[in-house]
Amino acid sequence: MTVSTPSPLTSDADWWRSAVVYQVYVRSFADSNGDGIGDLQGIRERLPYLRDLGVDALWLTPFYTSPMVDGGYDVADYRDVDPMFGTLGDFEAMITDAHALGVRIIVDIVPNHTSSRHPWFQAALAAAPGSPERARYLFAEGNGEHGEQPPNDWESIFGGPAWTRVPDGQWYLHLFDPAQPDLNWRHPEVRAEFEDVLRFWLDRGVDGFRIDVAHGMIKAEGLPDVGFNSMTTGRRQSELLGKGRLPYFDQDEVHDIYRAWRPILDSYPGGRMAVAEAWAETPQRLARYIGPDELHQAFSFDFLDATWSADSFRKVIDTALAESTIVGAPTTWVLSNHDRQRHVTRYGDGEVGLRRARAAALLMLALPGCAYLYQGEELGLPEVLDLPDELRQDPAFLRTGESRDGCRVPIPWSGDLAPYGFGPAGSELSWLPAPATWRALSVAAQAGVPGSTLELYRAALRIRHTHPALAGTDGITWLESDPGLLAFRRDTGGAVLTCVVNTGDAPVLIDGYGQPLVASEALTERDGGHLLPVDAAVWFERR
Ligand code: GLC
Ligand code: CA
Repeated sequence: MTVSTPSPLTSDADWWRSAVVYQVYVRSFADSNGDGIGDLQGIRERLPYLRDLGVDALWLTPFYTSPMVDGGYDVADYRDVDPMFGTLGDFEAMITDAHALGVRIIVDIVPNHTSSRHPWFQAALAAAPGSPERARYLFAEGNGEHGEQPPNDWESIFGGPAWTRVPDGQWYLHLFDPAQPDLNWRHPEVRAEFEDVLRFWLDRGVDGFRIDVAHGMIKAEGLPDVGFNSMTTGRRQSELLGKGRLPYFDQDEVHDIYRAWRPILDSYPGGRMAVAEAWAETPQRLARYIGPDELHQAFSFDFLDATWSADSFRKVIDTALAESTIVGAPTTWVLSNHDRQRHVTRYGDGEVGLRRARAAALLMLALPGCAYLYQGEELGLPEVLDLPDELRQDPAFLRTGESRDGCRVPIPWSGDLAPYGFGPAGSELSWLPAPATWRALSVAAQAGVPGSTLELYRAALRIRHTHPALAGTDGITWLESDPGLLAFRRDTGGAVLTCVVNTGDAPVLIDGYGQPLVASEALTERDGGHLLPVDAAVWFERR
């Protein structure tokens, strides 16, 4: 065995049930050596910031050896660190420090596909059709007289056909970029390999895994057509994500994989967990990924997709809480991640978007369950919409014109000049440029400033960790309220915390919930109550 980092955190095996997890997009968080790219040592240096923010764990996006065609979601070696991000030694130093500060580490695992540079795929290309080397991937003969048509009508999530032809005439499947060939999860070697990869990182002390494309590993037998795609009807198959059935996603057999993974996680001390990035037709099918014999969590993307309205939030919250009660696991709330437009921008951008994003944070953090924050949301960062095309790196951009680079711009830490302290003193490099407006949004510009978004997050996280009313994992009680208003209560052991969100178009007078604890906008006192402005949220307490 290798280095293990005994964690002082091992006593609480249920930590993930109410944790606040902070997603670090490694490439864009902090650059320790001035090459313009975030790295593991950069994260290590900023751990005190994350501890002071009040998060329980970090989820690190892939930092493994990779040609970086898809920002590291194309892994060439699952057991090593890409030199761009540092070394295995840097990882070990980082996790040791994180644990010493009481911060857990979740790493990303990418089991649906490897990089085309992975030794297995290189061997498959060098071998003949029908060889054992090809059997670890999904190679097939094409259709048409000379096999010149793809084996079926499947479409890549990044646009275009999901099949690429190799020189000897066979085709291989890639649900994402051609540089991300899909593995054959019906092959025992594939299963054994990933079980070993899990152990490799568990031995290094990781507290959990975020499973990439967790719904994708098993494809329907016979690789049947979907029946339409952008070529035939102009309608993209990916429109069915989270809404319909696709023969390459959410197949029942995928659950066998997680039933094999769970005992591995459980064989380590300290509550090692796994969270699924899974898309399923219904919340009920999504909930099947969670449970004592499968995974601990699955992101609730319906919450992320909810529009700014009391109705829309209430609907998704009720559904998610009902499902989590059935499976006996907490809901996993998320507002932003590295694949989606930042919520400041989704909610209207500019001042309105920021107000709503701040209010949404208080909404999310008052809910029972686990909350995932995406780096920079604590600074109120908007999506960068005007990146020059030639700087965009998302492989989806070339194929669909849609790019996820705007939420991946490096974090502003301090100073007056871009990239605002992202690198060491004096460094001017950053792999994507930060806009001039981010000077006012840097950590240094907001720290200690009353009313700043950073201080709002810090206050909310402090209360979330210490307030008795939020300690339980019980559900919420909705309170009767005007349309446009969302009001609910959490109570445990005599303490009551009430969260009120105003999504309507007029300020609302609120009375009778006790003392305000934290608010996303200033409240004014009126007639013995408090006036909650439009696009704002507040927590009240009564003990
Ligand atoms: C997941 C990741 C995304 C990546 C894709 C392919 O959806 O979150 O960033 O492009 O999987 O690995
Ligand atoms: Ca660097």
